Amino acid sequence: MWWNLKGNKRPYIILSAAMTIDGKIASKTGDPEISDEEDWKAVHKLRTEVDAIMVGKCSILLDNPKLHIKFYDHNGYYRIVLDSNLSIPIESNVVRFKPEIYPTIIGTTENVSIERIKEFESHNIEIIKSGTGSRVDIIKLMPILYSKGIRRILLEGGGNLNWSFIKENLVDEIRLFIAPWMVGGKDAISLVEGEGFAKMIESPRYRLINAISRNNYVILKYRKIKR
Ligand SMILES: NC(=O)c1ccc[n+]([C@@H]2O[C@H](COP(=O)([O-])OP(=O)(O)OC[C@H]3O[C@@H](n4cnc5c(N)ncnc54)[C@H](OP(=O)(O)O)[C@@H]3O)[C@@H](O)[C@H]2O)c1
Repeated sequence: MWWNLKGNKRPYIILSAAMTIDGKIASKTGDPEISDEEDWKAVHKLRTEVDAIMVGKCSILLDNPKLHIKFYDHNGYYRIVLDSNLSIPIESNVVRFKPEIYPTIIGTTENVSIERIKEFESHNIEIIKSGTGSRVDIIKLMPILYSKGIRRILLEGGGNLNWSFIKENLVDEIRLFIAPWMVGGKDAISLVEGEGFAKMIESPRYRLINAISRNNYVILKYRKIKR
């Protein structure tokens, strides 16, 4: 069944991103300012409806986000960062900003040193080792997160992490905010990076659930078609 992963249950994954018409989620210089105020509010509302938010290491290095919730009452949630070598700075906002409300989990690999793990643990960061490869093994990680009570994850990229989830067919729902701009640039990060599928037939398919347009922006919601 779709929520089973080698016999283990996994969280429901909602990929959320703001992008330009040409599918870029940041400019070639890394400028990520795509959402408007109304979209930010919608994203923060979505954050109140999940158990965790997940991002890749590069999003932390480039944007240093707090990954918190503004505008709405909430009970907090987990922040999850995938960082294969535990290389994000210990001063990062995900480590330092309000850990009592937003506990942080870093998914990493078996390759990291015990000293580095202890350094993060001394800041109350939970480290989960998943896999021995060069990248965090997300297939192994999912049931571990589920066993911690994490049922719904908001996946907020960036493009390389999005690809890993798309490749493994783990994205159940997509929520896209499309700004009416074309920024271009082969080095500008796209919604989904990685090597890509060779054939269209290999790609996961989605059904359009909702389409809203306002002030020239479009917000699309898709749900996975189970095949
Ligand atoms: N507009 C939006 O909605 C939005 C949202 C989020 C981010 N962004 C933008 O996206 C850009 C960053 O995206 P990005 O693609 O460069 O990086 P990313 O997806 O944030 O992070 C990728 C890194 O995560 C680590 N990682 C660990 N395990 C992984 C796995 N299984 N699969 C994939 N990555 C794994 C890898 O580094 P290690 O191998 O060192 O672990 C990898 O290089 C930033 O410019 C940010 O502003 C935009």
